[in-house]
Amino acid sequence: MTASSSTVLGLQWGDEGKGKVIDLLAAQTDVVVRCQGGANAGHTVVVGGRKTVLHLLPSGILHEAADCVIGNGVVVDPLELAKELDQLAAGGCVVEGPRNRLTVSDRAHLVLPCHVALDAASEAAKGAGKVGTTLRGIGPCYTDKASRSGLRTGELRDLTTFERRLREHLAHTNRVLAGVYQAAPLDIDAQVARYLPACRRLAPLVADTTGFLHRQMAAGKRFLFEGAQGVLLDLDHGTYPFVTSSCTGVGGIIAGSGLSHRQLGQVIGVVKAYSTRVGGGPFLTELPDPQGEILRKRGGEYGATTGRPRRCGWLDLVAVRFAGRLNGVDAIALTKLDILTGEPVIPVCVAYELDGRRIDTIPSRLDDLARCTPVYESLPGWAESLAKCRKRADLPANARSYVERIEAITGIPVGWIGVGPGRDEVISETAAGAALAEAA
Ligand code: IMP
Repeated sequence: MTASSSTVLGLQWGDEGKGKVIDLLAAQTDVVVRCQGGANAGHTVVVGGRKTVLHLLPSGILHEAADCVIGNGVVVDPLELAKELDQLAAGGCVVEGPRNRLTVSDRAHLVLPCHVALDAASEAAKGAGKVGTTLRGIGPCYTDKASRSGLRTGELRDLTTFERRLREHLAHTNRVLAGVYQAAPLDIDAQVARYLPACRRLAPLVADTTGFLHRQMAAGKRFLFEGAQGVLLDLDHGTYPFVTSSCTGVGGIIAGSGLSHRQLGQVIGVVKAYSTRVGGGPFLTELPDPQGEILRKRGGEYGATTGRPRRCGWLDLVAVRFAGRLNGVDAIALTKLDILTGEPVIPVCVAYELDGRRIDTIPSRLDDLARCTPVYESLPGWAESLAKCRKRADLPANARSYVERIEAITGIPVGWIGVGPGRDEVISETAAGAALAEAA
């Protein structure tokens, strides 16, 4: 294990503010790796004064010294990749060229135009029970991967054969769209004409990333593994079926990079000081509007990928503790504590009650979960601004108690606390947090 490597995971439903933590750590990293998910993720960054939203590229791409890798577990949409590379180039951040800083695994699966169409058709067919996906084709692409009918980036080496396979896939999807969903077919020639140029651009970036990562590891390079989404959206451990289609925990990092558990370094779990969720699915501590709207407005809680307003609620420590245990989290990076400033009382959920029984974990069945009610502990709030706090001791006493309560209930130390949007608006005290603060 390399002590200077880090793995960053979201311990809620995504959108915990991983981007800021990753951005700080990437400054001290040689290799940044994304291992799962695809263009469903969303990270807003500013390059050359321009706001850019990255979905597929590792956020570390902004740090010119870092080599970025899209690992085998990621599902890659060449159209989205081309769009993001263009956006970055327009802001002066050049990725392709002689000093190419991006490598895409030859084992990664391609998100095809038919996957995007199937995502929309399947969501429409589910009606009120829809998952609320990002409509980026993620689920259908992973479905093809698991059913062993997907197309992988490695196939781009022979574009003639690839085009034939792509056309076959599109023709098959048209039969499914018509027969199963009564949806309009795709214009195959138009889709191929739109898709192939992006594939041609992607082809030179494709390589054996697993071998590359092993060599870099042997050379003692510092790694940053970028988790996407959050542990409660995990395909196995999340609130199924209201989940994404990949493993969003350390398992996804290992399987999606080809490295071993010994090489993950410190595991940092990012937790927002309250909860948010986009899309459907259970959310026990959700605040009905207008209370939820207060957090949404103050925290700017609108999806970076879809622009959808995020559902907002109090911190659910049952969920965070569960996510932390699943992933052997070494330290929590707590984000957006400042957003709670001004709340007179801040409830935190410390247990659930199911049929009159107190439980301390998340039931697997949705019908059990639907009968759960949150057990809250009410913590006193604070009115003082946190913006100038740089040590835990600078925090108002009640804010300090809030952080201590999170540590006591989850059993995980808080190593880093975000007290404002700025890069330097950070408190850190443990070793894990110190690395982050140093980077800031
Ligand atoms: P999919 O990943 O697009 O299939 O969407 C499945 C579920 O995961 C939906 O509820 C999405 O809103 C949610 N989701 C996917 N990616 C993210 C993310 O990066 N942040 C928050 N929610 C996400």
